[in-house]
Amino acid sequence: MEGRLDGRVAVVTGAGSGIGLASARRLASEGARVVCVDVNPRGGKELADELGGEFVACDVADEAQVRDLFDGVAERHGRIDIAVNNAGISPPDDDSILVTGLEAWERVLRVNTTSVYLCCKYVIPHMRRQGRGSIINTASFVALMGAATSQIAYTASKGGVLAMTRELGVQFAREGIRVNALCPGPVATPLLLELFAKDPERAARRLVHVPMGRFAEPGEIAAAVAFLASDDASFMTAAEFVVDGGITGAYVTPR
Ligand SMILES: NC(=O)c1ccc[n+]([C@@H]2O[C@H](COP(=O)([O-])OP(=O)(O)OC[C@H]3O[C@@H](n4cnc5c(N)ncnc54)[C@H](O)[C@@H]3O)[C@@H](O)[C@H]2O)c1
Repeated sequence: MEGRLDGRVAVVTGAGSGIGLASARRLASEGARVVCVDVNPRGGKELADELGGEFVACDVADEAQVRDLFDGVAERHGRIDIAVNNAGISPPDDDSILVTGLEAWERVLRVNTTSVYLCCKYVIPHMRRQGRGSIINTASFVALMGAATSQIAYTASKGGVLAMTRELGVQFAREGIRVNALCPGPVATPLLLELFAKDPERAARRLVHVPMGRFAEPGEIAAAVAFLASDDASFMTAAEFVVDGGITGAYVTPR
């Protein structure tokens, strides 16, 4: 059977773990040649070998490294059809605004928002030359609603990703380039599961707000990435694509 993404070249940042890892696997399973990018070679390198793809070590918050990443992929593979700008951090020193220091704020904004600016800045010229491309920027449901369990820099960083995505989607809509933001709800990544296993009350405080009563599996987010990357989403751009188990639609959830 033909794959939806046969012949496409995809770059996935943060491919060494979680949503990025699942997305790289899913894109490859649909026929794409996948370039796995991560600041940490552990995970990403292994995945690239498994998928018959390529691993590139890159800090997405560093301008020169991001420029070299996309120029290098275009040179080696001839084109870049899909960019999944997914790498992000959510460190413990990002908390309530009352205790979060400027250093943590700037670090989170740099890795989560400036990185998306850099990745879009350096991939779009290649996509313009081709007259086609799909960019998926990972935001979060917290860009759409407030949490009393605050991570102030993270929330602001994802709001920035949403606004930037909307503007880029509009600006390049007539050049065949689609730019969409993905807003996942909480995902059952190993880190989150470990945290909540140690602290069931913390998990329960969040789960009560999820109509489906569970966290997402990384593969469920990856399925949305593959859809946005594919021609099935050909009339979608500048959108906020919410995959959150119903959180943003809920007032009272089922018992
Ligand atoms: N897990 C969730 O519940 C959830 C929910 C909504 C949105 N998100 C977003 O989804 C994205 C992926 O999250 P995840 O849960 O899979 O995280 P994760 O921690 O499992 O994986 C993130 C990957 O990004 C890499 N990375 C971090 N900083 C980097 C940098 N400067 N340059 C290159 N790579 C870097 C890490 O090494 C890691 O492999 C993030 O943007 C996150 O904010 C996650």
